[in-house]
Amino acid sequence: LGSIEVDVSALEPGMSLIVKWRGKPVFIRNRTDKEVEEGKAVALTDLKDPIARNANDDPATPATDLARSAGEGKENWLVMLGVCTHLGCVPLGQSGDFGGWFCPCHGSHYDTAGRIRKGPAPENLHIPTFGFVSDSVIKIG
Ligand code: FES
Repeated sequence: LGSIEVDVSALEPGMSLIVKWRGKPVFIRNRTDKEVEEGKAVALTDLKDPIARNANDDPATPATDLARSAGEGKENWLVMLGVCTHLGCVPLGQSGDFGGWFCPCHGSHYDTAGRIRKGPAPENLHIPTFGFVSDSVIKIG
């Protein structure tokens, strides 16, 4: 109940998909190597929100690029709620000062791992419970 399965086989690196889950948009992105490298290069001390906000992990897990991704071997995949943690607008992909997402409502900038870097949003974009049920299918919820 409340779960969806999404076929991501058509998503090449650099492509995204927005699906609806429990009434909210979910961003699924197959990140480029460059985006992953950029995410890994960020020091945790530079993060406004140092917590991963990943429902699949312990709530205290730090917001490393790996902890924000689908995990070891699948670091290129990001699955996040497309809901700005400020007041809930839907951020725009591949925009903003950090190459990730930009929320035009009040100017929040998220990086390539969906972490808040600038603007009024208090938290990183939230990551729902999800997992790969096969190489090309993600189950959310
Ligand atoms: Fe996104 Fe305010 S709702 S910055």
